Amino acid sequence: MTGASPRNITIFDTTLRDGEQSPGASMNLVEKLEVAQALVELGVDVIEAGFPIASPGDFEAVQRIASSVRGATICGLARCNDKDIDRAWEALKQAPQSRIHVFLATSAIHREFKLRMTPDEIVARAVGGVSRAAGYTDDVEFSPEDACRTEHDFLCRVVEAAISAGATTINIPDTVGYATPEEVFERITMLRNRVPNIDRAVISIHCHDDLGMAVANSLAAVRAGAGQIECTINGIGERAGNAALEEVVMAMHTRQDYFHCTTHIQTERLVPTSRLVSKTTGISVQRNKAIVGRNAFAHESGIHQDGMLKERSTYEIMSPADVGFSKTDLVLGKHSGRAALADRARALGYQLTGEQLQEVFERFKELADKKKELYDGDIVALVQQQISGSVPEEWSLVDFEAMSSTHGVPRVKLTLSHAGEEKTETVEQGDGPIDAAFWAVEKITGVSVVCKDYGVRSATLGRDAIGEVNIEVEHQGRVYRGVGASTDTVESTILAVLNAVNRIIAETRTEN
Ligand code: KIV
Ligand code: ZN
Repeated sequence: MTGASPRNITIFDTTLRDGEQSPGASMNLVEKLEVAQALVELGVDVIEAGFPIASPGDFEAVQRIASSVRGATICGLARCNDKDIDRAWEALKQAPQSRIHVFLATSAIHREFKLRMTPDEIVARAVGGVSRAAGYTDDVEFSPEDACRTEHDFLCRVVEAAISAGATTINIPDTVGYATPEEVFERITMLRNRVPNIDRAVISIHCHDDLGMAVANSLAAVRAGAGQIECTINGIGERAGNAALEEVVMAMHTRQDYFHCTTHIQTERLVPTSRLVSKTTGISVQRNKAIVGRNAFAHESGIHQDGMLKERSTYEIMSPADVGFSKTDLVLGKHSGRAALADRARALGYQLTGEQLQEVFERFKELADKKKELYDGDIVALVQQQISGSVPEEWSLVDFEAMSSTHGVPRVKLTLSHAGEEKTETVEQGDGPIDAAFWAVEKITGVSVVCKDYGVRSATLGRDAIGEVNIEVEHQGRVYRGVGASTDTVESTILAVLNAVNRIIAETRTEN
């Protein structure tokens, strides 16, 4: 291998499809467009934008992404039947480069219990589906679902038939996250050795993380000759998630000596993209998460810090700047101007429009009045709140007062604005000011919610840090997210509940 030029690995991002299947991670149309654009800027090759037959919302999202997002192949998922494939093509056809991804389960357990189909019927169905998709586009991906638990002989038979029918990518999913790296390596090697027409297709790998091996399995597939990895930002996805894009990419980047592979990923966009996806889905990134976690580059022990000061490479295998962490935690304050804010936002990876900058600046000034020094975490919280504020503000906060005590009943007086009119209510109920804040918002807006999850995290260090509240609420059997940020947690809570209520109103309106 030494001296040979590195192989390029296609990065197929499925954040908007498999990632969106994470419980509570659903995104609205504007959010999906925002994430798709960020994925292009990150440099992914293929964006799996959704599953068009799944719902009218999914169809619209794939169609809008296909008609407006440029710079990557746009892919839509379809089961192996005419209706799904026709619908996928309908959604995709305006994209300059599009791919139909057809899947059909092949393992004995799926054949017998889920599909109730014989092996011959599976092969015939796969051939029929791939041929139909190939009639629309010459970029067709076929996935034998649960491939990693499929008998070798049968897998080879289906793969060969799918390639003959026109599949140009053969994706090998470890649907249930069961395989080990050695097994994945052997399975890909086996396919390369036994399927006679395998050279006519790119082999892809798609791993789930149920046993925590999704990234290792994806990399093992690459070692065995796979040319595409399917992955998601922050590793979000069905159940325990999918292989994390940032991890597979940085593994290949940092260990080029070992993998001999490259990608088109702009690695310094990894952290901003991770933050955007986390904000948009409401799924926070654990502190010690590899590559994009807050602590990924934090050196705590004295010995490590001493080593770092003498020579960075003693304890650091990648540079934080390479993955998009800013070099300094510059302090801004109430005397900082718009240009300094724009500059800092740019350094943190956000290119704000004039209008966005104006709104962030106004909130920045309000915050700087409360809090003397603003750190990068504060700026990120402000910017994120603005750029993913894609939910129309049906109801907005005007003012609130909250009171709580050790033995008394909490009291919240809340004023909200709706269509230019203000409405005030006072509630004295609940088991604390947070609960009372929920009651007050429900009383004014008339939208009742059941809180399913409530989390608060500080955007920066210090007692005056912004507290970011993320909630999940249920309304009429569906789960909605809400996020709010302020130095006052009661205010963050009110903002988060309002964000969820506004989302409920917007989504109910779209559906009617
Ligand atoms: O995990 C899986 O098998 C999938 C397929 C649709 C590729 O997501
Ligand atoms: Zn999957």
